[in-house]
Amino acid sequence: MRPNLAIVGATGAVGEIMRQVVAERKIPFTSIKFLASEKSAGKPISFLGKEYRVELIRPEAFIGVDIALSSTPASVSKEISPMAAAKGAIVIDNSSAWRMDPDVPLVVPEVNAHALRSIPKGIIANPNCSTIQMVVALQPLHAFAKIKRVVVSTYQASSGKGAKAVQELESQIKEYSRSGTIPQATVHADRLFGNVLPHDWKPGEDGYSEEEWKMILETRKIMGVPDLQICPTTVRVPVRVCHSESLVVEFYSPISPAQAKEILIKSPGIIVQDDPHGKNVPLALDCEGKDEVFVGRIRTDPTVQHGLALWVVADNLRKGAATNAVQIAQELLRMGIPKAK
Ligand SMILES: NC(=O)c1ccc[n+]([C@@H]2O[C@H](COP(=O)([O-])OP(=O)(O)OC[C@H]3O[C@@H](n4cnc5c(N)ncnc54)[C@H](OP(=O)(O)O)[C@@H]3O)[C@@H](O)[C@H]2O)c1
Repeated sequence: MRPNLAIVGATGAVGEIMRQVVAERKIPFTSIKFLASEKSAGKPISFLGKEYRVELIRPEAFIGVDIALSSTPASVSKEISPMAAAKGAIVIDNSSAWRMDPDVPLVVPEVNAHALRSIPKGIIANPNCSTIQMVVALQPLHAFAKIKRVVVSTYQASSGKGAKAVQELESQIKEYSRSGTIPQATVHADRLFGNVLPHDWKPGEDGYSEEEWKMILETRKIMGVPDLQICPTTVRVPVRVCHSESLVVEFYSPISPAQAKEILIKSPGIIVQDDPHGKNVPLALDCEGKDEVFVGRIRTDPTVQHGLALWVVADNLRKGAATNAVQIAQELLRMGIPKAK
């Protein structure tokens, strides 16, 4: 089947990469349209050698659309995704609006593509970027030795907060080299250049941030392990693209670094870059533009009976967002797109 596609939020940081990934993967389509806010409506977009105009996101724009790849703020998705589904589109949504809804599958194809068998609301949620790369690495290890507990610290790129956040970091770098001062931030929680921000998201009453709770709850839902113990610390670093993560994982059964390496090498969507001397490790600058999750520094955690420590890097705009969404669309095309109710 060659579906009618819509890329919603097509002008954003994720939307731009979504367009690239749809083209790179040669997703078949009968028609394609690009939607965004009033600010962008009417602007030209070139795609596969043809000129298109950005259309305004509104319910009528979804008439005849089979698959909508959506990456707008959650507030926009809450309003527009049900309307798009009501017009017959299956929405693959990147925002946090629907992820924990029990009637919305939350999918990372390497881990739980089976969840696509039931799409009651016509909406499929793409998980949080930090969660996606973590579960791709954890799931195969969990299948071997059953995970008891995970301690994760993230080193998240500026682009995880959208196109304006990248512009802010770039202008801070320019201003610093021009005048030696760093202007106050308006997009990030504080000045990101020359800094590390562990408080980029509003903490909840328990001291954990929204991003940290997303990692806990989404991981449990995707992996189907409701009691999985996860302790995250999420941090923004002055990197343009690619999130890096330190994972410390405790298992119920024995698993050696050599076994973990062998398992991960054979697992889909993973590239193992593990050199015990530390010369070949996944680095944000090298992983940018790649679709896989990179795993390295696989070593024993000697503080528990069965433990491993890992370093995991992925492009947050690709596997953390656009690529994962397009992979979901590819799964739907393989399975036959269900009709939204
Ligand atoms: N960046 C990441 O690494 C990442 C990863 C996973 C998930 N996500 C999620 O994906 C979504 C998009 O993120 P992003 O980083 O691409 O953000 P972004 O760069 O700010 O882009 C947002 C997109 O949504 C549109 N939009 C914004 N406000 C709108 C409104 N009121 N009405 C209609 N359209 C509106 C924008 O259109 P205009 O350009 O016309 O304003 C733009 O196309 C967010 O929910 C984010 O949490 C992002």
